Amino acid sequence: MIQTCLFPAAGYGTRFLPATKSLPKEMLPILTKPLIHYGVDEALEAGMKHMAFVTGRGKRALEDYFDTSYELEHQILGTNKEHLLKDIRNLMNSCKFSFTRQREMKGLGDAINKGRVLTGDEAFGVVLADDLCINESGDGVMTQMLHIYEKYRSSIVAVMEVDRKDTDKYGIVEGRYIEDDLMIVSNMVEKPNPDEAKSNLAIIGRYILTPNIFTHLDNTTPGKNGEIQITDALLKQAKDGIVLAYKFKGKRFDCGSIDGFVEATKYFYEKLKDGNK
Ligand code: UTP
Repeated sequence: MIQTCLFPAAGYGTRFLPATKSLPKEMLPILTKPLIHYGVDEALEAGMKHMAFVTGRGKRALEDYFDTSYELEHQILGTNKEHLLKDIRNLMNSCKFSFTRQREMKGLGDAINKGRVLTGDEAFGVVLADDLCINESGDGVMTQMLHIYEKYRSSIVAVMEVDRKDTDKYGIVEGRYIEDDLMIVSNMVEKPNPDEAKSNLAIIGRYILTPNIFTHLDNTTPGKNGEIQITDALLKQAKDGIVLAYKFKGKRFDCGSIDGFVEATKYFYEKLKDGNK
C-alpha cells in the first residue's frame, strides 16, 4: 500500500573513520551483506517496491551496489560462486531504485526533505540503514508499522526503551497509550539530558511519514548542531494532528556505533554457524 521507502544515507559516518573516508557507512558489511541490503530487505518485506536514496558526495558505491556488474557476472557465470549473487540479483529484480543528493549535511530532517522529489506527495517509509532491525518471531519492523498505518493513516515512529543514562543519544517521546504498544505522541525532545528526559522511549531509525511532513520540514529552522531535526517537524505534525509511537517487536542493533556493529556481526555469525550445523 505504501510504495516508497526512503533511505537517508548522506551522513559522514564519522564514527567509522577512516573507513568511511571513501566508503559509505551504509556499505559496511555485517558478514557478507552491507547494512543497506538489510534495510532494503526489510522494506521489500513490507511490500515497498520503490527504494529511494538520499546520498551525498562519496556515496556512489551505493548506486553501484544496486546495479549490474557485467564483468563480475561474466567472470563467475557457471562457477560454484554464482550462488553468492543470488540474493542481490533477486532483490534488484524485485524493486526499482532512485537516487537524489543532499548537497550540504544539514541534518536528517533536511535529508528527508530532499527526498521529496522521489517520494512525491504520498505516505512513505523511512529506514536508517545503520539501525539494523530484526524480528526472529514474525514480521519485520517496517511490516509491523505498515499494519498500524493501515489502521490509523498517520505518521508513525518506531520507539524502544533505553537506559535512562542514554536519553541524550536519542529523540525521546512522551504520550498516551491507545493500545499495548502504541501511543499518541504529545511531546518529543531531541537528545534530552537524562535528568530532564520525561520518558525513556527513544525513537530509532524507522518511520512512516505522511506527506504533510514536508510542509512542516519547510517551516523548521535548524536546531541542535545547526541541523534540521526530523523530531521538530514531527512534533509540529503531532500538535497539528496525530503522530503515533510504536514499541516494535524485535531487536535493533545500532550499527552506527562500533559496539552495535560488533554486536550485530557476532549475532549474525552465530546464526550462520547454527544454520551450518
Ligand atoms: P547520524 O546521526 O548517524 O550521522 O545520522 P552520521 O553522519 O551518519 O554518522 P556519525 O554520527 O558522523 O558517525 C543518522 C542518519 O541520518 C542520515 C545518515 O546518513 C544516517 O542514516 N543523515 C544525517 C543524512 O542523510 N544527512 C544528514 O545531514 C545527517
